[in-house]
Amino acid sequence: MENLISLKIKDTVLLYDSLTKLDGGAFGESQYVALKVQHLKKLRECNDQQISAELLRLFREISCNQLHHPNIVKTFDSYFTYDGGFVMTSELAQENLQSYVIRKGKGNITLEEVAQIMSDVINALEYIHNYNIIHRDISPQNILVYDEKTFKICDFGIATYGELTQIAGGKIDYIAPEIHQMTGEYDKMIDIWSLGVLLHFICTGESTFNGKPACIAKKEINQLLLPPQITIKTQNNATKRIFPKFN
Ligand SMILES: Nc1ncnc2c1ncn2[C@@H]1O[C@H](COP(=O)(O)OP(=O)(O)OP(=O)(O)O)[C@@H](O)[C@H]1O
Ligand SMILES: [Mg+2]
Repeated sequence: MENLISLKIKDTVLLYDSLTKLDGGAFGESQYVALKVQHLKKLRECNDQQISAELLRLFREISCNQLHHPNIVKTFDSYFTYDGGFVMTSELAQENLQSYVIRKGKGNITLEEVAQIMSDVINALEYIHNYNIIHRDISPQNILVYDEKTFKICDFGIATYGELTQIAGGKIDYIAPEIHQMTGEYDKMIDIWSLGVLLHFICTGESTFNGKPACIAKKEINQLLLPPQITIKTQNNATKRIFPKFN
């Protein structure tokens, strides 16, 4: 069986020479790996319900180490440390999609790039959905950029297993209306909703709903504007590139 978590307590400082902070908080950088450090001492301030939720988050991340796909961030190792941390090491990306799009400038991502990003994310989603996993937190912060040309999804902390789920989660702008409306169970289509919001962000560099839940911003959905260079013709070309099977 695959080793999902080290059976030894390790000391990060001895394993890696240099540690530097990355954006996103609990990350350290060594030369070639990213370290995600989650401090267990914060559990001391939690009530029982919060402890269960935090532990579930860890277990979700650990069990998703079993996923292997070119568009899912590869995890190398996960272990506990002597100072009460839980560490996951993964392949180090240059940045996340949020900073990539902002660095390139609003609306400056070429059609080719849009197609590349979308097809990478769609391939990863198709893979996890076939295993009945719903990511539930598809957003630019959870897509990492490798060598400016490969895009991979990360952060399975709120992913869920099963065809239907009831628990809400995700980033407000990216949450599907059925989750906000809390009408009952929802399925993997919530990831597809987030994918649509992601596409809008990549094309415009702007937040789609300005932090409002999509069901409240319903009217605005019909008024979404894409930059002028994205004409019907370019949209059709992009669709052909992203979904070659259907053309
Ligand atoms: N392998 C990696 N290489 C480079 N940067 C990474 C890597 N993994 C994560 N990051 C950076 O750290 C950020 C947070 O990571 P992640 O999404 O896994 O954690 P999180 O649970 O959302 O934590 P937080 O609440 O601190 O954002 C990512 O948005 C990304 O910028
Ligand atoms: Mg995240």
